Amino acid sequence: MTKRPAQRTHPAWTPERWGSKLGIILAVAGSAVGLGNFLRFPVQAAQHGGGAFMIPYVIALLLIGIPLSIVEWTIGRFGGAHGHNTTAGAFSAMWPWRGAKYLGLLGVFGPWVIFLYYTYVESWTLAFSYFSLAGLYDRATDQASMSAFLKSFQGVASNGTFANLGTAVFFFLITFALNLLVVAGGIRKGIECVSKVFLPMLLFFAALLVARIFWLGAPDPAHPDWNVVNGLGYLWNPDFSVLRESTVWLAAAGQILFTLSVGIGAIVTYASYLHRDDDVVLSSCTAVGMNELAEVILGGSLVIPVAFAFFGPQEMTAIARGGAFNLGFVTMPLIFGRLSWGHLFGCVWFLLLFLAGLTSSISLAQPVVAFFQNVYGWTRAKAVTVFGLLSVLLSQPAIWWLGRGAVDEMDFWGGTVALVLFGMLEILVFGWVFGMERGWREIHHGAEIRLPPIFKVIIRYVTPAYLLFVLGFWVYDHAKTTVSMVGVDPANRPYLLATRGLLAALLLGLVLSVRMAVRRRRHIPELER
Ligand code: PHE
Repeated sequence: MTKRPAQRTHPAWTPERWGSKLGIILAVAGSAVGLGNFLRFPVQAAQHGGGAFMIPYVIALLLIGIPLSIVEWTIGRFGGAHGHNTTAGAFSAMWPWRGAKYLGLLGVFGPWVIFLYYTYVESWTLAFSYFSLAGLYDRATDQASMSAFLKSFQGVASNGTFANLGTAVFFFLITFALNLLVVAGGIRKGIECVSKVFLPMLLFFAALLVARIFWLGAPDPAHPDWNVVNGLGYLWNPDFSVLRESTVWLAAAGQILFTLSVGIGAIVTYASYLHRDDDVVLSSCTAVGMNELAEVILGGSLVIPVAFAFFGPQEMTAIARGGAFNLGFVTMPLIFGRLSWGHLFGCVWFLLLFLAGLTSSISLAQPVVAFFQNVYGWTRAKAVTVFGLLSVLLSQPAIWWLGRGAVDEMDFWGGTVALVLFGMLEILVFGWVFGMERGWREIHHGAEIRLPPIFKVIIRYVTPAYLLFVLGFWVYDHAKTTVSMVGVDPANRPYLLATRGLLAALLLGLVLSVRMAVRRRRHIPELER
């Protein structure tokens, strides 16, 4: 028998639960393992000192990633026991102050913003897995032509393979519908089922590609030193001098938050469907471990070493500087084009990215859907429908203004600022408002392992201070230039301003919807305070 939560919010609301411990661990790991592992991590590492990057990375993992994961699982389970499935509700259960739920709304806003552009990028991977199988980009045999193919697909450059954005929109709608379908299936039948199948599958695909790549040797006889082993050396040989630069520490902290899906409310929502007595310590650490394995071992063995082997250090560095997508969408297809069974391997590569993306994007959708269910008492189907309709509208800038920088703009506010800001807020609310002693008991309720006591100090002081430093530096470094769009092409400014306006409207809409619900439904316990 499942325990009834202490309070019920609405007659239409029924407590959903995960089917098994493995189920939630795989769902959380599925959220964590995403495009960030295979595209973002290797490029970050290569740009920030190679092996030396692992020092700030591991420190950020220990001082930010692991504590924040444990805290998010704990907050989620606590909120769930009180009938809340988002950080807005969980905050109000932890903090008897009327404004708490509004602060917690950031944990609904953030995932929603990321969802809006993340699903679009995810849809490119689906499109490219089809292109690869169908041999659509076979004629592109060098960087320039492959890059032109990608740009034409994205509608960034006119007169290429694609006459218009129709193909991109088509794959976007499919990806979008698949996401909604999974979330509409519910926690157990939708998200858990999909994660249980797709996460192992994508790990298998990644391992398969790594095996294929390690077998390459030196593909270019004219350059015997361009080989996979030297490629690994390029990625991992440490350049310790970079440790003096603060940007490297910031990049590592940002990567840890993004890759673990923490600081945004997604894990809180997932953990809210736990049973009150379920373990959170070992489970959260297991999910973190799986993500790190996928990131450092598999993610680190794919794009960089293989691009090195085919293109050599100079050209590869130049490509990587052009951004994470260039290596994934331009270089990798070129390389597969030179291998036997290239169509198939190319398809596997993009399918791997697609599965990784899908199990992540559903975790971005669920907090918003849960928000509608909690606040309005809507059924899941209605909540998913409204979420879907609104999201289709809100994702338009990502599609049409990609070349204007709309995706980067959303990524800055949702994937960077919101992540650090909200991560800091969560850990402060937990360690200082909820209280460390109470929090410590809450963490260990039903726990299968105990944390070393040093974590009390880390959670209360070290993690918030670290995040404050990261945030402070970003504000100091970016506030003026980013907010006032220094260096942005004046022609693009109106588009970016419009994108910002849309995001602001979204945040305002969320705040107003909570206010309205507070007025109308006084019997919703989470909103009465
Ligand atoms: N962790 C995901 C990735 O590595 C991205 C993500 C961030 C997903 C935040 C959910 C929440 O791609």
